[in-house]
Amino acid sequence: MKNKNFYLTTPIFYPNAKLHLGHAYVTTLCDVVARYHRLTGDETYFLTGSDENAQTVLQAAKKAGVSPDIFLEDIVGKFRQLFSLLNISNDQFIRTSDRQAHWPGAITLWQKLDAAGDLYKKEYEGLYCVGHEAFITEKDLVGGACPDHGTVPEKVKEENYFFKLSKYTDVIRQQIESGEFQIVPESRKHEILSLLKEGLQDVSFSRPKTSNLVGIPVPGDDSQVMYVWCDALSNYITALGYGRDDDLFKKFWPGIHVVGKDILRFHAAIWPAMLLSAGLPLPRAVVVHSMIISGGRKMSKTVGNVVDPIELVKEYGTDAVRYYLARHIRPFEDSEITHEHFKAAYNADLANGLGNLAARIMQLAATHLSEPVKVQWKPFPKEFADAMEKFEINKAAEYVWARIQVLDQHITADAPFKVIKEDAEKGRAIITDLVHELAAIDLMLEPILPQTSQKIIDAIMANKKPENLFPRKD
Ligand code: MSP
Repeated sequence: MKNKNFYLTTPIFYPNAKLHLGHAYVTTLCDVVARYHRLTGDETYFLTGSDENAQTVLQAAKKAGVSPDIFLEDIVGKFRQLFSLLNISNDQFIRTSDRQAHWPGAITLWQKLDAAGDLYKKEYEGLYCVGHEAFITEKDLVGGACPDHGTVPEKVKEENYFFKLSKYTDVIRQQIESGEFQIVPESRKHEILSLLKEGLQDVSFSRPKTSNLVGIPVPGDDSQVMYVWCDALSNYITALGYGRDDDLFKKFWPGIHVVGKDILRFHAAIWPAMLLSAGLPLPRAVVVHSMIISGGRKMSKTVGNVVDPIELVKEYGTDAVRYYLARHIRPFEDSEITHEHFKAAYNADLANGLGNLAARIMQLAATHLSEPVKVQWKPFPKEFADAMEKFEINKAAEYVWARIQVLDQHITADAPFKVIKEDAEKGRAIITDLVHELAAIDLMLEPILPQTSQKIIDAIMANKKPENLFPRKD
């Protein structure tokens, strides 16, 4: 998964409510990987954004008693605030309501599908779940309601444009099987392959324009608006200027999409089919992460078990939240989070672990060395790099914390504070080595904990003890 130009995307989020820790996870995961790639010299472009032409947004605005525009400004402002608090280094934030940045590309793409003969109109009757922003079937229901959202789907009978998804399922299957189009991890690859083997039905790609629907008008048919997923998926290329000024598109496409397992089908079947229909290259990979769960259930507003990442940042700091998400959430298995575990991990790994280690070493250096140690940049160790390349940021972080532990043991075993009293030169040599190893660790911390990493390298360069990096929490 490596080349010179590296394009990485998160899903675009529905601005119908504040983002919770689950949403913060995918963004942080991508941020760590994007920062890592920049450090290896890859020209990196990192995209995130909001999925605004959704019925859920209109419903939420109505409930809040404000106009959709005002509602969106407020909530999208909160998204940006969260991403800034988490120190997310995205190169662009795309909004699908943006008529300049997004609409021209979405319209061009629609026209390509149409020109390929892949859109047709048909009368359709189905059950639309607004929470899913998708039609669901009778057999998905539990007690007449959608089990994920607890709401009764709307019965609709309407004329829609349909997209010929069925035409492309074999080609997509072949490209996944050959590895040309990667689905990560293997288990998700098998999941989507079995779905593709069953064959997929054509999908509704537009809805009649009514007062409770917003969306991009279908070119040449003002009575219809594009289905929200058709419009949303195209963000990955409209943001690069597809359909207007496509320099970025030429440079960065194809990219890698990181998405949650609940939206695998949209990204590994519908999106590639759209690209094939338009004669565009498929994504390099879709990386599919698992869920953060709380109290045994997927964290979601509907369940009511959300953890607010802003509250966590306020209490523990940006890097503590980034640390927890990177190290203690497993990308490819569901992971439970509790406040107790968060605090225990903070105290053990950050306050007593990294914070204490950096303070001990730099206290020794400041006391016994007359000038700063000249540290040199070394390539990332293979184990760390391999984990990062595979999006296994938890393993990359585990590797770093193993080195932290070893270094801690070294201080105790080498006892430079004792040695220095008997043999000053030997003592100084030990301390210099400790600073070198701290610097090597610090470089690996840069993509994960950018602020802390900066503070440690500043302390090394000034030959002084850093401020208290992670005060203990009781
Ligand atoms: N708008 C669509 C995506 C369109 S992409 C072209 C959407 N939005 S969402 O806001 O509902 O979800 C965004 C992402 O957050 C999804 O990848 C979803 O899997 C992820 N998560 C939502 N809850 C989550 C957890 N509890 N844990 C981890 N990720 C979670 O779907």
